[in-house]
Amino acid sequence: MNTEIHADRQALAIATARRFDALARQAITRQGRFSVALSGGSTPRDLYRRLATAPLVNRINWKRVHLFWGDERCVAPEHADSNYAMVQDALLSQVSVPFGQIHRIQGEIDPHVAAVAYEDHLRHFFPAADPRFDLVLLGMGSDGHTASLFPESPAVVQALDASSQRWVVATPSDAAAPWRVTLTPLAINAADQVIFLVAGGEKAATLNQVLNGPFQPRTLPAQLIRPIRGSLIWMVDAAAASLLS
Ligand code: 6PG
Repeated sequence: MNTEIHADRQALAIATARRFDALARQAITRQGRFSVALSGGSTPRDLYRRLATAPLVNRINWKRVHLFWGDERCVAPEHADSNYAMVQDALLSQVSVPFGQIHRIQGEIDPHVAAVAYEDHLRHFFPAADPRFDLVLLGMGSDGHTASLFPESPAVVQALDASSQRWVVATPSDAAAPWRVTLTPLAINAADQVIFLVAGGEKAATLNQVLNGPFQPRTLPAQLIRPIRGSLIWMVDAAAASLLS
């Protein structure tokens, strides 16, 4: 696995922000737009804040950026648990991404309806056979989940069914917000670039299991992320990497 270890959360956020900037510039030069699926969670929030401050905030051509979400909690967009609300606060309040280029998941409606609507939206945006995001940002929980793909969850069981062609599904979660909408591994693995952002010693044992342990995706869903043709990099801090064998 391609892994980059940084001293601490801030160094991790700075390094990832620089990668984001480079990927955005390449994509905009190549195709006139940059499509990125954002992650929720506290680790990516540091990254979003970095992107919203100088010098990067002035380097990135936000008018060519399309923002998507890798998952969303089924709450209103202004709710404290909303991933959209977190990105709005950390990034969108500071940069001018055209409204029609902010593709949020409708957490405020029925989860299954929201999942179908988002998948339809993605199939319209990506006319090819799969959603080839330029970048998908992911976090990882200490239980090995990523996006809203939780261990032993219906979304993970469905992902292991090779016949499933879904790009977006609704899934129950035992966290604060009972339901979530998430990209499936099929959708995530179509991306040109996937970046995992992992920080904190509480994730060290799981990170080692995910990267170096046996393949057991039902209990470690992060192992389902294996881009078909794109590349995957694990951007981690020293604390999270402390048990890597
Ligand atoms: C979410 C994310 C989730 C997150 C992990 C890690 O909706 O919260 O999709 O998968 O990335 O739980 O979160 P932290 O970065 O806060 O540890």
